[in-house]
Parts: sequence; structure tokens; C-alpha cells
Amino acid sequence: MSLYPIVREILFRFDPEVVHKLTLNLIGLCGRVPPIAFLLRHIYSVPAQPIECFGLTFPNRIGLAAGYDKDGTAWHGLACLGFGHIEIGTVTPKAQPGNPKPRLFRLPEAQALINRMGFPGRGAEFVARQLRRKIPAEVILGVNLGKNKDTPLERAAEDYLTLFDIFAPLADYLVVNVSSPNTLGLRQLQARQALDELLDKLYQRRQETQKALGKRVPVLVKIAPDLADRELDDVLEVVALRGMDGIIATNTTVRRQDLTPDILKLSPNASESGGLSGLPLFWLSLAMVRKIRQRAGERLPIIGVGGIMGRDQAKAMLDAGANLLQVYTGLVYRGPGLVKEIVVG
Ligand SMILES: Cc1cc2nc3c(=O)[nH]c(=O)nc-3n(C[C@H](O)[C@H](O)[C@H](O)COP(=O)(O)O)c2cc1C
Repeated sequence: MSLYPIVREILFRFDPEVVHKLTLNLIGLCGRVPPIAFLLRHIYSVPAQPIECFGLTFPNRIGLAAGYDKDGTAWHGLACLGFGHIEIGTVTPKAQPGNPKPRLFRLPEAQALINRMGFPGRGAEFVARQLRRKIPAEVILGVNLGKNKDTPLERAAEDYLTLFDIFAPLADYLVVNVSSPNTLGLRQLQARQALDELLDKLYQRRQETQKALGKRVPVLVKIAPDLADRELDDVLEVVALRGMDGIIATNTTVRRQDLTPDILKLSPNASESGGLSGLPLFWLSLAMVRKIRQRAGERLPIIGVGGIMGRDQAKAMLDAGANLLQVYTGLVYRGPGLVKEIVVG
């Protein structure tokens, strides 16, 4: 029997961001103490189910979504919890504080979170130092890239190129995040022309550096669940045109109406502004993954993320066409046994 419901009961009495920081530090510390790391692996590791995706071999289909380990300080410990891949970030070129607190809210009645973090982080150089310690093949590490708050939208590409140069040698794959709702204007980069210009520059940079790097680093694009069908078609066309390696669907939603479960009735925190994640997001993300698979055909790799709280949602997301999956809010509500629950049952 899992003890996590009792642990969660205690953790949920404290401020969500404080609890997140403490658990992240604890997981990071455990990962650096070999006997504890060994024990964690013994408890949480899952049988290998290797899967090939955009040129990489993932140990299994379940990964940790961006935002959990923004600065890459705890990936050693997180790797002991059974994840086949871990996505670090969002990383911005310079360190920045993010939005004023409070900026993370629980909606336990709906198994959801609302956040308006705004990419707080210690900046690219700090994160790069954490990754240089990586033992190859230990776990697949992605790095999710975003622009600084004070970089004007017209110059956003410079931030992404700076980050590409720093992380292409260190990461297994990179993600262009143009879908977080908490950095003003960021999601406008999903519009056809803006996205085309940005991805074209990244494409060129990848071509120029490929020889020196000795590898072709896969680049994926992470999108919002709130795109209309026409906007999604534009994104898919540009992604194909610019040779991107896949789509991550989806980020959090700014929607509050018409969600199942009806969070507006269920939770007092539902009126907080920011991105909503967890169970109410599941149907939106699932629909998005299904549409992408129908429109883009069989070959485009899709990482499905949004409201995966257990085995049922994971299976539905794979049936809808996802190749890999990621979780975040599920980890908060179901605890560290989630990966094992999904993979082993
Ligand atoms: C507190 C919090 C912070 C997040 N930060 C980021 C981020 O920095 N970059 C990003 O691409 N997604 C971020 N996300 C979105 C998640 O990666 C994921 O796409 C989303 O939460 C949906 O998955 P879930 O329902 O399993 O949480 C964040 C989510 C949460 C809850």
C-alpha cells in the first residue's frame, strides 16, 4: 500500500512553492548519495521498455515535464524515480526572478494546479554547469528553452539562438517553448510568420554547427492547448517546413470555462490567473494530440502531456497517437510511484 496519500495530506498544509522547493532539494540530495540513490532505484525503477524516437533510444515512454526542475539541480535524483527522460527548464539566457509570489496554487478538488511562475531561474550558465556532470546514457535529458521577460518579442530569436549554442552540446534534445502563458507575448511566437522566422534561424544554426558538434541535436516545439484548428495547421506546416523533430502537446491552458471536471464549481482557487494543469487539462491535451496525429500523419513524433494522472490517461494518450508521455501535476497528486504505476500497472 502506498504511503503517499498520508504524505500528501501533510505536504498540502504548506505553501505549494515552498513544498516544491523542499521536495526538489531533497530529491536532488538523495540522488547524490549513492546508497540512497541505489535504494530509490530499487524501489522505483521500472523494467526497460526501450523506444526509439527522433533518433534517441528512450528507456521507457514516461518523462518528467518541463518546469519541475527548472535549473537542473535535481535530475540525478529524479532519474532514480523511473523516468525515461527528464526535461529541464524552462531555461532563459539570464537569471530572472519570475512573477511576484504567490504564483502557484493547488486545486485539490479538481486534481489540478494553477501557476503563473513566469520562468524564474538561475540562467543558462548555471544550468549548463549542472549538465556538464552528466554521465552519458544515465537518462535522456532534454532542455526546454525560453526568452527572458525583458527581451522584446522582436529579439526573441536571439535568446533562443544563445540558448541553442549553450545547450546543443550538452542536451540530448532541445525544446522551443513558445506556449507558456505567463511571459507576456510569448505565445504570439506560435503565429505562422513569427514561428517561421524563429524556426528558420534555429534550423540554420543547427546546420552550421552540426559538423563541429558531431551530432544533429533534435529540436521539438512545445505548443499550447488553446490553439484554434487553423493556428494548429499553421504550426504543423512550419514545423514540417523547418525540419523540426517533433511536437510537445501541450503546455498549460488559460481556459477556465467548459472543462471537465468543472473546476469553476469545484475549487475556490479556480479564479487565479495563470496556466491550469492536471486532470481538467487532460481532455484538451488529448484532443490536441489526436488532431496532430490526424493532420501530420504517422511520422511526426508527439510527446503527449497534460493531465496524465495514472494508467488510464496514459493509455488514452498513447491510443490518440502520442509516442512518448510526460507528467508534472500527476507527480504532485500521485507521488513518486506514478511512473511505476503507469508502466507496470
Ligand atoms: C508549476 C508549473 C511550472 C511549469 N513550468 C513550465 C516551464 O517552465 N516550461 C514549460 O514548458 N512548461 C511548464 N509547465 C507545464 C508542464 O510542463 C506541462 O506541460 C503541463 O503542466 C501539463 O502537464 P500536467 O497536467 O501533467 O502538469 C509548468 C507546469 C507547472 C504546474
